[in-house]
Amino acid sequence: MTMAPTMQTTTAPTTAGNDARIDAIDKVMGRTAYAADRLPPRLAHAMPVTATIGKGTILSIDVAAASRVRGVLLILTHETMDRLAPPRFLFAGGHASQSHAVLQSNAVAYRGQMVALVVAETLEAATEAAARVVVRYDKAPFTVRMDDAGAERVGQARAFGLPAMADKVVGDADAALRAAGLVMVDRRYGTPPQHQNPIELIGTVAQWEDGRLTVHEPTQAAEAVRQGLAAQFGIDAAAVRVVSPSIGGGFGQKNALLPHTAVVAAAARRLGRPVKLVVPRAQAFHAASFRPASVHRVRIGAARDGRMVAAVHETESQTSRFDLMPALGTEITARMYGIPNFRGHEALVRLDTQTPGFMRAPYEMAASFAFESAVDELAYRLAMDPVALRVLNDTQRDPVSGKPFSSRHLVECLRRGAARFDWARRSPVPRSMRAADGSLLGLGVAAGAYKAATAPALARLRLEPDGSVAVSVGGHEMGQGIRTAIALTVSSVLGVAPARVQVALGDTTAPPQHLTAGSWGTATVVPAVQQAAAEVRTQLIALATGTPRAALHGVAVERIVLADGALGVAGGPSVPIEAVLRDAHRTHVDSEVRRLAPGQVDQAMERAMRGLPAAAGPEYPDFVAMSYAAHFAEVHVNPRTGKVRVVRAVGVFDCGRVASPRTARSQAYGGMIWGIGAALSEASEVDPAVGGFLNADIAEYMVPVNADVGALEVDFIDKPDFRLNAAGVKGLGEVASVGAAAAIANAVFHATGQRFTRLPIRPDDVVAP
Ligand code: MOS
Repeated sequence: MTMAPTMQTTTAPTTAGNDARIDAIDKVMGRTAYAADRLPPRLAHAMPVTATIGKGTILSIDVAAASRVRGVLLILTHETMDRLAPPRFLFAGGHASQSHAVLQSNAVAYRGQMVALVVAETLEAATEAAARVVVRYDKAPFTVRMDDAGAERVGQARAFGLPAMADKVVGDADAALRAAGLVMVDRRYGTPPQHQNPIELIGTVAQWEDGRLTVHEPTQAAEAVRQGLAAQFGIDAAAVRVVSPSIGGGFGQKNALLPHTAVVAAAARRLGRPVKLVVPRAQAFHAASFRPASVHRVRIGAARDGRMVAAVHETESQTSRFDLMPALGTEITARMYGIPNFRGHEALVRLDTQTPGFMRAPYEMAASFAFESAVDELAYRLAMDPVALRVLNDTQRDPVSGKPFSSRHLVECLRRGAARFDWARRSPVPRSMRAADGSLLGLGVAAGAYKAATAPALARLRLEPDGSVAVSVGGHEMGQGIRTAIALTVSSVLGVAPARVQVALGDTTAPPQHLTAGSWGTATVVPAVQQAAAEVRTQLIALATGTPRAALHGVAVERIVLADGALGVAGGPSVPIEAVLRDAHRTHVDSEVRRLAPGQVDQAMERAMRGLPAAAGPEYPDFVAMSYAAHFAEVHVNPRTGKVRVVRAVGVFDCGRVASPRTARSQAYGGMIWGIGAALSEASEVDPAVGGFLNADIAEYMVPVNADVGALEVDFIDKPDFRLNAAGVKGLGEVASVGAAAAIANAVFHATGQRFTRLPIRPDDVVAP
């Protein structure tokens, strides 16, 4: 075993132009096995019963009628459920999406909370019986909107007392904003709660054998689910295995231990049979996390020449009554521009819902909408081009820490995007452009940034005589393409076809299966796998050249090329790997690489082994690392109906070296489409009279469909960041959507002359006088 040094090299494998997606055929053929595809013998099926009140206590649960449904095996309520240790919330040192446990007391903390679980021989029986469970409640007052009485406001910095949660303070922004002669913007913005809605629903297949629990569950954090379940059941983590090799979309919904999992596991233990639960879409709106509602006040002051002198960004973000889910939006807005005076402040507002959590670019989507809308408004006040204003305020040094950025190509993103989008055709005056069909035409731009984080990784790689490779590492494939990025990396170092690389992910038999989130997946696994492959390559070449009997004895190591399962010399002899290993009396060559983020110590790996978040970044000892985006959008607005169409969008991204071109492109498309949803349609509706979220399905929670998405164009700067890691990769998943909604909102302003400060922007907002 070797510890990867943080020493940087200036070479990286080149995967450019390799358009493989190694799991594509399996997916379109329906061969990819998802958790709910597990159908072990004697499988029983579960269906939850959920609370129909906004808050209160359960007076009684009558299961008599439900029990009479043929095939019902078990009904768990708070009276009959095993007493488990309480789950510990992610931000309180635990593994769980929230601290409030279901079926452990008669407390109903929010509408939609699970209050019973019916298990039956068939899903139909479980569903019918669940509908016959009669629950009587004692209702209590509740609050689900941030501006209603009963909302409880908490300052984040003081509540946590941790540097990462502190206000972002550079210079004295409040004083600087009072200076005379500044061009000012002062606006409030609002974003609604939103839900992730991946195609694959959350769920669990749990099975006990000889006191050992196996859980198949789509999760971005297999190790956390394992450790959290072990803690809840009071058993050794070694007795729990969590398997999550392929996820049908995570987006943050699946990144912690969810409340339902322990209940399903308890049911399986009680019955001595495997139990499967797939949480129905409507229930999922209350069964996992969501993106909290947020409000922002942004103040920016700039000199007449456009230089931003000071900014204050204050946010409020909803949390639950029982947990403090932090918000970190000003982490990026403080670093977007070289503003010498900045103050970022976050507050949390306690409401009666499940604990909110992460949803793709969890805080950054809203923070960038607010801040980049304000920057756009500033450009109009200054009568400056919005691209030029952003370029003018660029910085190569992080204003918060004073450290250099590891790499930052935001200006290039903006310039390349402007050229590609033909930004020059824009007439600066709002409402001055028309589309061919007479609708108002608007062009908008916004920038985005997202931390380039890195987590500890342990990569194991084994090369077989037939040239195939098996690699395992801590990471989760949720459709973003991490498996392909790994295969391409191995391919480029060992000369094996990507399809011949078996990539094992998301299985706790290969720990640590650290949380894959925060766009740190690629920068976490690719450098570790790259090094593991390089070590195998070195060993193999040593075997091929090392002894007088070896086939390539005497050949200079640098001249040896690995390709197609053989070692060779350009224009010279070639020896199959199989022959090299046979001659050396070896059955295989393998390696194991432990890799930490720059500046991390062993403790980080220990945390990862315990299923705890252990990622570092954006601030590292010697630099700050972020990925960047420039978004351009063209909208057509029908002045009579108020309908906004995004007819074209261009996104240019700086994510370091692009490790996997095809899946990176897909990620970027996805992020831009999320921007369309956030800007124009997505909102989880709350009603103060009812509680919970009302439009809890994808018929009424409006995600963009094909007809909502115009032409999308994606481009990458593709410059490696060797300061961050030897593979030159940063991160992409979230930055792809940071600023995307702001670009659209800014385009709507350009089209209509109306500044919309609350998302989503709907036709009735646009037509209103
Ligand atoms: Mo992602 S929202 O960081 O799981």
